[in-house]
Amino acid sequence: MREVGLYIHIPFCRSKCPYCDFTSTTNIEPIKDYLEALTLELKGYLGRIYIDTLYFGGGTPSLLNLRDLERILNFLYKNFRGSFREITLEMNPEDYNFEEIRGLYDLGINRVSLGVQSFREEGLRFLGRGHDLKLVFKKLNYLLRVPFSSVNIDLIYGYQSLGELKEELKVLRGIEVNHVSFYLLTPYEGTPFEGLKLSEDLIHREHLLISETMKELGFERYEVSNWAKDGKYCLHNLKYWLLEEYVGVGVSSASFFEGLRYKNTNSLREYLKKVKEGKSPVAFEERPDLKRERIILGLRTKFGVEKKLLKLPESLKVFFKEEGNRISLKEEHYLLLNEILTELI
Ligand SMILES: C[S@@+](CC[C@H](N)C(=O)[O-])C[C@H]1O[C@@H](n2cnc3c(N)ncnc32)[C@H](O)[C@@H]1O
Ligand code: SF4
Repeated sequence: MREVGLYIHIPFCRSKCPYCDFTSTTNIEPIKDYLEALTLELKGYLGRIYIDTLYFGGGTPSLLNLRDLERILNFLYKNFRGSFREITLEMNPEDYNFEEIRGLYDLGINRVSLGVQSFREEGLRFLGRGHDLKLVFKKLNYLLRVPFSSVNIDLIYGYQSLGELKEELKVLRGIEVNHVSFYLLTPYEGTPFEGLKLSEDLIHREHLLISETMKELGFERYEVSNWAKDGKYCLHNLKYWLLEEYVGVGVSSASFFEGLRYKNTNSLREYLKKVKEGKSPVAFEERPDLKRERIILGLRTKFGVEKKLLKLPESLKVFFKEEGNRISLKEEHYLLLNEILTELI
């Protein structure tokens, strides 16, 4: 039996944000069927895994009521004993009152990730969000009154002016969260934001401003987009980057388990049908080149990779730093990660 990270995808949202290409639908009618399917899929792992970290991602996991969450958690606690060291739930600001947030904690959830996205009303409107700032502050206040081990907020940059980003960072100064995910806006193909042009120069300046401010605020960057205080790294996500084993259940979920990387179908209908018929929902499977993966994922983090894995050409050495037997990308070059990887691999 192996101790793994378990990811559970909840593919339902109140409305679809124009930048987002995660698998989700605004039709919440099949939610009950979906939860049953998740249980069926999980049964396939009985006797094969213990759970170390657990992550409810979406979509919008906070659309689940506490009774449904309790049912899933009890099923997991009973059947997949393990440390359950970290249990994260992604939450949208529209969801849960104080009692429910307290209830999440009582169920064993010890980490909540709130999708703030912007600390400006115009930013929230541009990003097509269904909440305003008042709701953000209300829910942050609730979250910070409960002794979660970690509260994360998601923010997006790259589209606002430098002055507007400064405004957002000023708000962030007054907020006592111990984890921030700061994502560069990606205008994905097939979303309403496809074709949106962002200025490279502005992105560089914003990247620099974020790095300086976050450090000033006592955060440590441990991955390209992730910042933590007091070493409160997201243990589950670290498994992805450090190539430890994880299993994903639900539509579109990915796994790296028993040497294989595999991914479930992106179609909710197909997922429900396959699982109900007792068939595998996996749509893609490969045996990855582990050395290559270790480099691609490890270089996203401050931990980098073992020196012996990487033969650096002279021209790239300037982008890297060495510590002990590890080598990592210098933080100021994170924006060049993809170009550097293309040359390296
Ligand atoms: C799986 S999403 C769900 C979170 C939650 N449903 C919410 O909306 O608050 C996780 C995060 O990915 C980020 N994200 C999604 N699409 C993105 C994009 N196109 N560019 C940058 N960040 C994106 C957002 O910050 C979002 O909160
Ligand atoms: S950002 Fe969150 S709420 Fe918006 S569509 Fe994506 S998953 Fe749903």
